[in-house]
Amino acid sequence: MLFLVRLLLIMSLGLNLEASIAAADIVDQFVYSGFSGSNLTMDGTATITSDGFLQLSNGTAYLKGHGFHPSPLRLRESSNGTVRSFSVTFVFGIVSSYADFSAHGMAFFIAPTTNFSTTLPAKYLGLTNVQNNGNASNRLFAVELDTIQSVEFKDINANHVGIDINGLESLRSYNAGYYDDKSGAFQNLKLISRQAMQVWVDYNGKTKQINVSLAPLRMTRPLRPLLSTVYDLSTVLTDVVYLGFSAATGRVNSLHCVLGWVRDHGPRKDELLLVYAYMPNGSLDKYLYDSDLCKGTLTWSQRFHVIKGVASGLLYLHEGWEKVVIHRDIKASNVLLAKDTNGQLGDFGLARLYDHGTDTQSTHVVGTMGYLSPELVRTGKASPLTDVFAFGVFLLELTCGQKPIKENVQGSGHTVLADWVLQHWCNGSLMVTVDRRLQGDYNVEEAELVLKLGLMCSHPFPNARPGMGQVVRYLDGVVPLPELTPTDLSFDMPAMMQNKEFGMSSYPDLVTSFGTISSREISGGR
Ligand SMILES: *[C@@H]1O[C@H](CO)[C@@H](O)[C@H](O)[C@H]1NC(C)=O
Ligand SMILES: *[C@@H]1O[C@H](CO)[C@@H](O)[C@H](O)[C@H]1NC(C)=O
Ligand SMILES: *[C@@H]1O[C@H](CO)[C@@H](O)[C@H](O)[C@H]1NC(C)=O
Ligand SMILES: *[C@@H]1O[C@H](CO)[C@@H](O)[C@H](O)[C@H]1NC(C)=O
Ligand SMILES: *[C@@H]1O[C@H](CO)[C@@H](O)[C@H](O)[C@H]1NC(C)=O
Ligand SMILES: *[C@@H]1O[C@H](CO)[C@@H](O)[C@H](O)[C@H]1NC(C)=O
Ligand SMILES: *[C@@H]1O[C@H](CO)[C@@H](O)[C@H](O)[C@H]1NC(C)=O
Ligand SMILES: *[C@@H]1O[C@H](CO)[C@@H](O)[C@H](O)[C@H]1NC(C)=O
Repeated sequence: MLFLVRLLLIMSLGLNLEASIAAADIVDQFVYSGFSGSNLTMDGTATITSDGFLQLSNGTAYLKGHGFHPSPLRLRESSNGTVRSFSVTFVFGIVSSYADFSAHGMAFFIAPTTNFSTTLPAKYLGLTNVQNNGNASNRLFAVELDTIQSVEFKDINANHVGIDINGLESLRSYNAGYYDDKSGAFQNLKLISRQAMQVWVDYNGKTKQINVSLAPLRMTRPLRPLLSTVYDLSTVLTDVVYLGFSAATGRVNSLHCVLGWVRDHGPRKDELLLVYAYMPNGSLDKYLYDSDLCKGTLTWSQRFHVIKGVASGLLYLHEGWEKVVIHRDIKASNVLLAKDTNGQLGDFGLARLYDHGTDTQSTHVVGTMGYLSPELVRTGKASPLTDVFAFGVFLLELTCGQKPIKENVQGSGHTVLADWVLQHWCNGSLMVTVDRRLQGDYNVEEAELVLKLGLMCSHPFPNARPGMGQVVRYLDGVVPLPELTPTDLSFDMPAMMQNKEFGMSSYPDLVTSFGTISSREISGGR
């Protein structure tokens, strides 16, 4: 048990987990911050440890255990029955009683039932049995983390990841590891290294592509998946499915733990908010605005990568904890870049817990001009939607390569970036706003999505802004952006914002902090 203790300690430093499955019209989403108090359905050797981990096997030989999300999900489109896109990610750890030898392994699966009573342990991983292995009536999709080579199933080695349909002979498999984002070189990982690792499983309902990636915990998802194949899961899955994990021991016993199901989130910091990793490449604004670095300006794909990283970080703050955490100071200079240009939200100096709608912090406005939503300026109350507003401004900033508020050359006032982008959209020239330094070298669909989403998020009416969960689904392409016209996003400035007396006199802190600013600038847009 010594190993387990060590493993659990490592885990508790870095983990807070959530899971979700996003779907186009029905959103089946579930969130686990660890498994304590969750209602997972379990069988066999599966238990939830006092630390909140799902431990599938318990160190006894020739046994199996399963853990399921308790309610069934519908992954098919109601209109035509095709299985829609989904994303699942989870963190696991395997602890063997030997350093270089382990029990058979574990799997994530999607199955028609939670009744796995007839399945076998050992090489069957608790998924199938001698009679039904490979039979299409199993309606089973699985991703195996296999640590023993079973010749019968044509296993490539004793340390591989495989995509399985209806049986243990994998459709695709490869050595456990990942392709380095920069060099493209393959990095081996040892599944039984007693280190926590993360797996991502993505299915695109349109292209029928299945991607599986593996990486050490705290690494963001590798750009190139470990396994990629095209297989129409509509021909496999039942209408209603259960999602779960399975593990099995054979002659050798081991512990197989799932530490949580995570959606597309990067590494997490757990001292709650005040600590963040040192990021060797400094903050993002340097790359956007420092002329010395112009030559090395961020490419579009780097920007898009950063945008997704920050979006999932923010989603995590808003929805990944028991309490909602509001960042309150989202801007380019607070986005820190890791060596591999992954964005990470830093500087939580202003972050506050927000108790589901009953925020108390309303004494003075904090944040940065240009990123403050009208209602924040008006009431002094930060909320998740004031973060969304700032995130919208950040999207425009990163895509256009311009500050949210710019002083005009002749000193004749200011230009608000969001206004300018909106005007171009009205004029049919939206893409003209994309940063010229990219020299036209960008993905037009992505940039258009980000610009429109930026305007949507920085809408002056909080109710018109999407939540971060929705934002992440738009960015991931899981859900299309609603058809918008520029008029949906243009509006008259709320009357109260035009009233000079409003705000300025009742919030002296604001004036002290930012100097006098026009109501138009405060509205962050329009
Ligand atoms: C688990 O189920 C119980 C009873 O149905 C319910 O009260 C509780 O909220 C559920 N817990 C979670 C985390 O879903
Ligand atoms: C593992 O689980 C099995 C079945 O639930 C049980 O019989 C066995 O005693 C357990 N082993 C340990 C080490 O807890
Ligand atoms: C099934 O319906 C969905 C949504 O209604 C649509 O996006 C998809 O293209 C359809 N697929 C087929 C094969 O008709
Ligand atoms: C599970 O399946 C087995 C074999 O089909 C059956 O005998 C058993 O009753 C089922 N258990 C439950 C709880 O439905
Ligand atoms: C597959 O399973 C079905 C249903 O259990 C059974 O009728 C059929 O004979 C099996 N096929 C094979 C090839 O074993
Ligand atoms: C699979 O990975 C490739 C390469 O990164 C990517 O282009 C594709 O969109 C991915 N598909 C899914 C379903 O995630
Ligand atoms: C980040 O820093 C590393 C090491 O200092 C350097 O090799 C890399 O080029 C930098 N990345 C960017 C985007 O400047
Ligand atoms: C949009 O078109 C109007 C009318 O032609 C023009 O005055 C305005 O400058 C244009 N806006 C931008 C941002 O190009």
